[in-house]
Amino acid sequence: MWFQQLIREQTGCATYMVGSSDCGECAVFDPLWDIEPYLAAARSKGMNITRVIDSHSHADHVSGARRLVEATGAELFLPERIETTYKATLLADGVSIRFGEVELEVLHVPGHRPEQINLLVRDHSRGAEPWCILTADCLMVGDLARPDLAQDGSAGAATLFRESLPRLLALPDFTEVYPGHVAGST
Ligand SMILES: [Fe+2]
Repeated sequence: MWFQQLIREQTGCATYMVGSSDCGECAVFDPLWDIEPYLAAARSKGMNITRVIDSHSHADHVSGARRLVEATGAELFLPERIETTYKATLLADGVSIRFGEVELEVLHVPGHRPEQINLLVRDHSRGAEPWCILTADCLMVGDLARPDLAQDGSAGAATLFRESLPRLLALPDFTEVYPGHVAGST
């Protein structure tokens, strides 16, 4: 399995590519507007971008998901509860996207945004245990995401603590965490 973090330094936005060495396909999670870094990274590994996934409706950057889909012919995946006017394959809690040895399991983690999802990443060439989780705008480094952008802050915080955080805490201790923002975030 190939795993690559791509960071936009100006805003601290962290995005991810996960690829299968077996089948040469890769997925992009939360792509930014400038899609060239993803195309270049895939080219450098000889991989085809076949799946593009947004974790939620972003308030801090413009998604490059549909540009990437247009450029590559990849399939677009969005959270089941997202409100959009364009076509995408909707991801419900618990479903998995599988290609080659890679499995991306969807966890619905509301609180920051009602529709937000995380991806639990498994590399079946290593084993069935998860290797890492892409926490997008849910779990940050030493913090949780803002709960007050899409709903009342108290309600959002309660949802984060009661529904979403326990699911992340229940994961095995060795599960690596890769958030959607790092230092430098606005
Ligand atoms: Fe967000």
